[in-house]
Amino acid sequence: MLFVGGRRMKLEQLRMRGLRCLTDVGIALDTGINVFVGANGAGKTSVLEAVFLLSHARSFRSGAKEALLQRGTPQLSIFAELRHVDERVCRLGLGREGARWEAKVDGANAAIGQLVRECAVVCFEPGSHALIAGAAEERRRYLDWGVFHVEHDFLTSWRRYQRALKQRNSLLRSASAATEALFAPWEAELAQSAHQIDRQRRAYLDLLRPKLLASIAGLLPELGQLELRYRRGWSEELDLADQLREQRGRDLARGHTTLGAHRADWSIAFEQAPLREHLSRGQEKLTALACMLAQAELYAEHHGEWPIVCLDDLASELDQAHQAAVVAQLTAANAQILLTGTELPQALQTLPSRVFHVEQGELTRLL
Ligand SMILES: Nc1ncnc2c1ncn2[C@@H]1O[C@H](COP(=O)(O)OP(=O)(O)O)[C@@H](O)[C@H]1O
Ligand SMILES: [Mg+2]
Repeated sequence: MLFVGGRRMKLEQLRMRGLRCLTDVGIALDTGINVFVGANGAGKTSVLEAVFLLSHARSFRSGAKEALLQRGTPQLSIFAELRHVDERVCRLGLGREGARWEAKVDGANAAIGQLVRECAVVCFEPGSHALIAGAAEERRRYLDWGVFHVEHDFLTSWRRYQRALKQRNSLLRSASAATEALFAPWEAELAQSAHQIDRQRRAYLDLLRPKLLASIAGLLPELGQLELRYRRGWSEELDLADQLREQRGRDLARGHTTLGAHRADWSIAFEQAPLREHLSRGQEKLTALACMLAQAELYAEHHGEWPIVCLDDLASELDQAHQAAVVAQLTAANAQILLTGTELPQALQTLPSRVFHVEQGELTRLL
């Protein structure tokens, strides 16, 4: 089922300074479809990267954070005006000076978490197949983005968990002095927050499952029924605190904690492709796209507004039929779209859109 309606958040103004090849660029975005066209290396992906940074405080591109800073420039900043479905306009800012990130919401200093909560962006880009074929970390990030936006106290449990994990890992590395009395409280804390995280992740996946089934049935009907599997990162039968105590010897030898919520993972198995290795690269991409759309739809259902959707190099990632299907679904949902390509994709040629030409980090509005 498609999410039909006109309820979406939208970026109205976007300004980027010192981000890769974007020295100082400001644009007014359309509330519907925005297309960025230009040659390779023109700066198209960097525009989407700016939007993603505002909403995630990290890039979707791998690599050092320093590479985001324009060469020879000590700082970067991104500003945007975001209009919510209730017409509330929110001014968002994210800046980096040296190694420090700073967030602003409506002119006041804000925690990164506050910025990220305000602005929701989903992105499909040439690296997205890593969600299916890549490391578990990608899948945990995807899952946790969703949980974060649905479960209000997820961030609290996640931080508690990270802190306890760090403490236990440093005890493991100073093994000679470490005793039961030192380990026990951190293992109890780890277990308690891990069980909370596990509950929240599970609840989220239960909400996501029907959306994912529908979204995959639309994009990849040939693969048949699918099963969404989740592993929490430690035995299903035992309490984590007990397992951590039992595993301590092994963890001491490895120097880190080998069980817990930081080892969770999920996977999708299709009737016609039970193993991940049965999927072609194109099918991996479509599966990743379906995951992204399902997540956006769940977000929309929960918050009453669609996230902003970024589609990088859509025409080179998908065949024409799938491009058209995605664009049709997103326009039916009335989501704001930011899309890049070396030229205007066929799927958009009959739809109204605002087109920007990108060349050497400069943006010019064409239509
Ligand atoms: N830190 C940086 N400083 C300056 N230029 C950069 C930096 N990182 C990347 N670039 C350049 O920015 C340009 C934009 O890249 P990108 O946004 O990926 O282009 P497109 O998506 O249009 O192919 C490239 O030419 C790249 O060499
Ligand atoms: Mg690009």
